[in-house]
Amino acid sequence: MAVSFFKPIADASQFPKPRVPATPKFKFSALKLAKCVQGEVNDTLFTRNGRGAIGIAGTALKNTDSNVILIPAYHCPALVEPFIWLGYEIRFYPVNEDLSVDISMLERALTDDVSHCVVVRYFGFGQNNNEVIEFLHARPVKVIEDCAHSLFRFTDHFENSVNSVPQVDASICSINKILPTIDGGALYLKAPYHAQLNHISWVEEFKACAFIAGIPQALDKIKTWLKGKPETKAASMAESVENEDAHLRYFQPVDLTSASYRHTKFIFCHSDLDTIKAKRRANFAYLTQHINNPAVGQPLFSQLTDDDVPYVIPFLLTDDKHFSTLRKQGIQILRWEEVAISDCSVSQEYRSLLIQIPCHQQLTQHQLDSLVSTFNQLRA
Ligand SMILES: Cc1ncc(COP(=O)(O)O)c(C=O)c1O
Repeated sequence: MAVSFFKPIADASQFPKPRVPATPKFKFSALKLAKCVQGEVNDTLFTRNGRGAIGIAGTALKNTDSNVILIPAYHCPALVEPFIWLGYEIRFYPVNEDLSVDISMLERALTDDVSHCVVVRYFGFGQNNNEVIEFLHARPVKVIEDCAHSLFRFTDHFENSVNSVPQVDASICSINKILPTIDGGALYLKAPYHAQLNHISWVEEFKACAFIAGIPQALDKIKTWLKGKPETKAASMAESVENEDAHLRYFQPVDLTSASYRHTKFIFCHSDLDTIKAKRRANFAYLTQHINNPAVGQPLFSQLTDDDVPYVIPFLLTDDKHFSTLRKQGIQILRWEEVAISDCSVSQEYRSLLIQIPCHQQLTQHQLDSLVSTFNQLRA
């Protein structure tokens, strides 16, 4: 059956520039000279984005005859669209309220014709994914692990020390969700596969480096100040070009053959992942302890396991009106509004009620406190 996505509910242009941004900004001081990622990254493909990595995984693992894939019903379209483009038959399996998977429901969805299954590590939390992957190992399906939000689990694939994690056929991550890069996806494939990825020219690479260092933005400000002209907005290097395939909103076929910026790989390898991990966990603890307004909502998880490193704090609102109130107050919360229509009532409800609160490594104490007071002052 063809997949239909819900339309977006809110439009980012309705909201002011955030004072608490969803993602961190680039800082030279956050990089280390020595390589921080352990193990061999050369077997990892650095793609333009996570959806490109998913598309390459889908290409590498495609069967010559039938391709029926199970995808969790709670998702963003960027996860589903590459499989639509590749001609997979897509079926959705339900998620529980805590975003774990009910294995008996998954077993029911796993009919004989299913050839692939996607497992998502939502927002950096493990849920019962290891158990789900173990369950799938005993079945004739190829497992694609979506670590778009779980860079720290993704790195387990090439960190020699870790071998207690269950193996999958492919694993992807989205680098710019956690690190301050313009672009970046990464792909691990269990079986060798050659994907030809094209790098952009060195001139474009240099422009992008200048962009993340804030040089064109600073020059723009100086020009405006000198000429008294309105500021010309620096074009976002991350802005996507018009999609070649109009029915897909996020995935572009060119993503399948595009390498990330070269400096994205450098930032990936030289970021102090231990410090980032500790900060994100500490911010999670601070925010979940201090946000206390049950009339407005509750965090989906109140505790972290030793392996959880939050990308954001999933928070369940009592009423979706709070989303726009929070955005209007400059808190850049996100929400997956465009899930596909399915039988999963949790996913359909979470499309408006489950918000993502930033907890990234660069939030200052002032921003954390302002986040807390904004939430605590909301009225039901
Ligand atoms: C769970 C999940 N998978 C995959 C993707 C795609 O990642 P990217 O935006 O890097 O293409 C996203 C992005 O929103 C995501 O949230």
